[in-house]
This record gives sequence, C-alpha cells and structure tokens, in this order.
Amino acid sequence: MQKAIPRRKKTVRDIDVTGKRVLVRADFNVPLGEDGAIEDDTRIRASLPTIRYLSERDARVILCSHLDRPQGVVVERLRLALVANRLSVLLGRPVTALRDCIGPEVESAVAAMSGGDVVLLENLRFHPEEKTDDPAFAEELASLADIYVNDAFGASHRAHASIVGVPEHLPAVAGLLLAKEVDTFTRILRDPERPFAAVIGGAKVSDKLGVLENIMPRVDLLIIGGGMAATFLASRGYGTGRSHVETDRLDDVRQLSAKAAELGVRLLLPRDAVVTERLEAGAPTQVVPVAKIPDDWVIADIGPETAGEFCRELEGCRTAVWNGPMGVFEIPEFAEGTRRIAATLANLSGTTVVGGGSTADAVARFGLADKMTHVSTGGGAALTVLAGKSLPGVETLEDAEGS
Ligand code: 3PG
Repeated sequence: MQKAIPRRKKTVRDIDVTGKRVLVRADFNVPLGEDGAIEDDTRIRASLPTIRYLSERDARVILCSHLDRPQGVVVERLRLALVANRLSVLLGRPVTALRDCIGPEVESAVAAMSGGDVVLLENLRFHPEEKTDDPAFAEELASLADIYVNDAFGASHRAHASIVGVPEHLPAVAGLLLAKEVDTFTRILRDPERPFAAVIGGAKVSDKLGVLENIMPRVDLLIIGGGMAATFLASRGYGTGRSHVETDRLDDVRQLSAKAAELGVRLLLPRDAVVTERLEAGAPTQVVPVAKIPDDWVIADIGPETAGEFCRELEGCRTAVWNGPMGVFEIPEFAEGTRRIAATLANLSGTTVVGGGSTADAVARFGLADKMTHVSTGGGAALTVLAGKSLPGVETLEDAEGS
C-alpha cells in the first residue's frame, strides 16, 4: 500500500507579514572545520530567500536554529555568532547575534527591533528543553513573535520544541526553502515524468529500507550501489570478501528483489567493483567482476563497467532521484563511480533530485550542485520523505486552502 503524500501547507506568501514579529526556525547546522570556521555555508545561503522576503516586507525577523549536538549545555565553539556574521555578509545588512534564545535580554532585544531588522537567537540546543519539546520552553520562544515560520527542512524530522512545540502557540506557515523541498519531493513521488529512476547507495541497507520499499512501486528503474550493494549481492549468493553484509537484512533484500520482478521494475546491481585491501588512500586496489571478489578484499566503489551501464540507463530517464554515494568517494581512488553518476545526472535533460547528507556533499565536491534540479538541504529529513513518512515539522503547519 502506498503511504500518504503530504498536504500542501501555507507559506509566508499566504499570510500578511508586514511589520510583524516573525520567528523563523532555520537549519543553520553547518559543518565546522577544526579551526571552528564554517566549512560549507549551503544551508545559510538556502535560507536567504525567506529572510529577504520577510525583511523586505518590514517584518522583524527573529531567526533561530540549532548547531551540532551540544547536549543541553553552552559550548562556546557552537555559538551562532559565526552564522550571524556569514548571514550578514550574504544579506548585506546587519544580523545581530543574541547570547541566548529566551529570557529578559532576548525579550528587550526583540522589543527594540525595527521593521526589516534581523536577529539570530543563540543555539537552541544549549537548552535541554529544546530536544525534549518542553512546553514552557516552547511557549517562551513563541512569546517572542506574532508568526512562526518553519524553514528548517533539514530538522523537520525532529519533534523538538522549536519544530513542533512553538507552532502550537502561533499562526504557523512554511518558509520558501521548506516549501520548495516538500514540493519537489512530493512532485517526484506523486507525478514523475517517466521513465523515473532511483539511484540508491550509501553504507547500509538498513538505513534505506523504508526508502526502497516506498520508492519501488513508483519507479521504472532502481539502481543499487555503494556499500549496501554487498548485501544485495550476498543475497544472490555472491562472495563479497570482507565487505560489510547485513545478514539480518538478507530476507528483506530478497523480498525487494522479488517485488521489483513482480512490479516490472528494472533493478540493477553492480557487475564489477573496485576492491581494495584497506579502505584508505594508497591501499592496493583492483577491478574485478562481482563473481570474483577476493576473500580478503573489500568493495570500495562500483567498477567501470557498472558505472557505464548505470549511466547509459540513466541517460534515458526524465526523472531521477539519488540518495547515497556509489563508493567511498571521500578517498579519490574510490570516487569515480559516484563522480560518473553525478556527471550523468548533471547532464540529464529532466528533473534531477539529490537527497541531502553525503550525496549532497559529493555533488558539491564535484562542483555539480548547480547543475541539478534540486539538491536537498536535509539528510535524515530527505530520507524520511523518500520513505513516504510525514515530517513532524511540516504536519504542524497550517494547511493551504483547498489542499
Ligand atoms: C541535520 O544536519 O541533518 C539536521 O540539522 C538535524 O540535525 P540532528 O541530526 O543533529 O538532529
């Protein structure tokens, strides 16, 4: 049975925001380098359309987010001042970083805001009440504003106070990024232009079972790569050397293969693989057919014949969704399969949607993010949507009229 597809939600465009105090939940959970600097500001850039939209309408924009997992205590290197600085450069206007997200100082700072001003509250996860969805904490956050906007697609699978608690107290609508993410996934799951392909990779089948089950009845072509291909190969009797096989998932994988056959979905597995003695740069490697994986070696990437076949098949598709790299792309010797898939999708004259997390990192690393129709800012959230499950942070928003 196919699961429910999310209903359309109101967005900032559906309500009057002029002059209002608007609390915007963003996902500024950006990767930080060893020196504490922001390594990739994609998520900050992705929040700009909503912030600009509100600020241009004289709303007082109160931004909030988490950064990393500080476990309910103040961690100096996880203060959001560095995000405020980057935002201010990108927006071309000051963004004031506050030293907390609730309390009297925050209240006076918000009271002093003028129309169009932007402030950023401190890391929500410095308070343990954020993760536990504490009602009093949610109410205090909500008391800062007249309207709540969720633009944190990447965090919308979390039932935290700023995601599900605050909208109980305020008119709650989607930001432009959240709406774009949800619309894109909904469109390809509901009404894809065909042929429709899914490319699923990554380390573990168990992380992607929900996605595979939900996507199977919708696609024409299902391509499996990455570490998880080892479990598929093992389920068909191939030796996979020292590659990680999830033995408790072999039955699930056999059922998926049977389902594909029943539905007439073409399920493609690797025919050859790049194998290595160790998953590290400089280790010995060789290309072998999947029937000849040496006992002591481990699969590190799809092989060139497989990459060629996957890419040829994808070239004929009008819609493709991709989640999970084809190999250990962080190590250059094992990046080729992932790079070839990325390059093929980048040239596809159809809709290409890249699930977030490591697939988005790979596409960015190859400089191809701009060539995709959509690269999601969500990792876990994108997986949740692809698995056909609803996001708590979207559920709580007001339904659009007629949806
Ligand atoms: C993410 O990076 O996937 C989101 O910001 C959610 O972060 P979390 O996994 O720490 O809740």
